[in-house]
Amino acid sequence: MERPLKFPAGFVWGCATSALQIEGATREDGRGESVWDAFCRDRPERFFERATPEPACDHYHRWAEDVALMAELGLNGYRLSISWPRLFPRGGGRINDKGASFYDRLFDALLEAGIEPNVTLYHWDLPAKFGRWGGWENPDTCKRFAEYAHACLRRYGDRVRLWSTLNEPSWSVLNGYVTGLHPPCKSEDFAGALRAADGLLRGHALACAAAHEERGKAAVGIVLNMSPIRPATGSTADERAARLADGMLNRWFSEAVLDGRFPSDMKALYTGDGFLPKGIEETAKLLRRAPLDFLGVNYYYPHHASANAPHTSFHLNTSGRAEEDCEFSIAGLFRFVKNKRGRFTAWGWEIDPDGLFDLLMRVHQSHPGLPLYVTENGIGRIEKLEGGTVDDGERIDFIRAHLDAVHRAISAGAAVRGYYLWSLMDNFSWINGYKKRYGLLFVDRKTLKRYKKRSAFWFRDAARANAV
Ligand code: BG6
Repeated sequence: MERPLKFPAGFVWGCATSALQIEGATREDGRGESVWDAFCRDRPERFFERATPEPACDHYHRWAEDVALMAELGLNGYRLSISWPRLFPRGGGRINDKGASFYDRLFDALLEAGIEPNVTLYHWDLPAKFGRWGGWENPDTCKRFAEYAHACLRRYGDRVRLWSTLNEPSWSVLNGYVTGLHPPCKSEDFAGALRAADGLLRGHALACAAAHEERGKAAVGIVLNMSPIRPATGSTADERAARLADGMLNRWFSEAVLDGRFPSDMKALYTGDGFLPKGIEETAKLLRRAPLDFLGVNYYYPHHASANAPHTSFHLNTSGRAEEDCEFSIAGLFRFVKNKRGRFTAWGWEIDPDGLFDLLMRVHQSHPGLPLYVTENGIGRIEKLEGGTVDDGERIDFIRAHLDAVHRAISAGAAVRGYYLWSLMDNFSWINGYKKRYGLLFVDRKTLKRYKKRSAFWFRDAARANAV
C-alpha cells in the first residue's frame, strides 16, 4: 500500500474511555452506587488482584489536565460515557446537580480545545438499585433509562451532538447471564439473557425517541461489538455453527437496531427452547420508529466457530499469562476455537485487522451510506515505564494496521467517519484490573501521573497529518 494514506477531511481522530473505568470519586458529590461498585465490594476475588474502580485514573479530579493532554495529542474527538449513578444516585428522581456539573465543565473544556465529545449514555454502570430489582429484565429499567436520556439531552444537548445509547449490549448480556463473569453474574440463563437483551433494546429505542424530542439536531446511534465469526473449517457443520454464533452474538442486536426486526432463524431456535421473551414484536415496532443516525462499531478480534461443542464452558484469560486459554462453548451449538495460524495478545485475543475491514464492509453492504464510527479498537499490553515513557512499538503497529483496514473500507465506499482508539489512558479493565494497559498515556498506579507512550507521539502525528 502506498503511503501516506490520507483520510477524508473531517475524519475524527479520537480516543475512547468510559466513566467507571477512569473517573474514580465513586462516593463523592453524592454519586450513587453502580452494580459494578457493588460487585467489586461483594466479590473482590473475581477481579484480577482484587482491583476496584476507586480511584481508577482519578479523572474526576484530573479532567482539566486530561483535556489538555488530549489537545496535545491532536485529538479532534473523544468518546466518553456519563455515569448514570452520578447523575441519578438513586436511579431516578431529581438530578444530582453536583455530579451533573462535572460533565458541564468537561464538555465546555473539550469544546474549547476543539475536541468533539461522542457521549455514551450507558457503559454498563447500572445504578445498583435497578440491579437489585432485576436489572434490564425489569421493564421499569428501560423506562427509567429513557428519563435519564431525556435529562442528559436537556442538560447537555446544546453542546453534545453525537449520542450513543448503549455500549455493547451483546457483550454485557452474554457476560451477565451466560458466562456469569459480569453482574448480575448468572450462568447459562438463556431466558434471562433474552429478557435483558429485550430490555436493553427497548431502552435504546426509547432513548432514541427522547433524544430526538429534546434536541432535534442530535445524532443518535448505538455502539455494537460485532466480531466477525468465521467457520473453523469449510465443513457444513462448522458453517452452521458460525451462523448460529453470529445470530446469537451479532445479528440479534444488529438486525434489531438497523432493521427493526429479529432474525427469523434465531427466533425459531429460541421459540423451540422456550426462551423467546413475550412482547418481542412490540420491541421490534419501537425499534422501527427509532432509526439510527450512525452506528458505532467496537472491534478487537474475530471468532472461529466449530460445531464440535460437547460441553458448555466459559473462561476468560484475566491474567495475561500465555498458558491461560480463553474458552467459549455452548453444548450442541458452537465452540470458539483458537486460530492455529493467528497472532495473539498476552490475553489470547487474536490480532486480525482484516476482521475490522470485513465488519465495516458488512454494514456498508447491508446499509450503504450509514455513517460509521470505529468507537473502540486497541490492544491491551503488560507495560513498564522506562525513562519516562513506554516503548510500545507493538501498539503502533496494531493501530497502523487497523487504520489501513479502515482506509481500505473507506476506499471501497464505506462511510467511516472516525476512529476512536481504546484508550486514552491505562484504566480499570473490568475483571482484568489494571495490569492490562490500553492507553496512549501510561498511568502510574502509585502516583496516577500520566506519561506519554511512544504511541501517543505517533498518534499525534497521524492525527495532525490526517494520514498514516
Ligand atoms: C470493550 C468495552 O468490550 O472492551 C471496554 O467496551 C473494555 O469497556 C474493552 O475495556 C477492552 O476489554 P477489557 O476487558 O480488556 O478491558
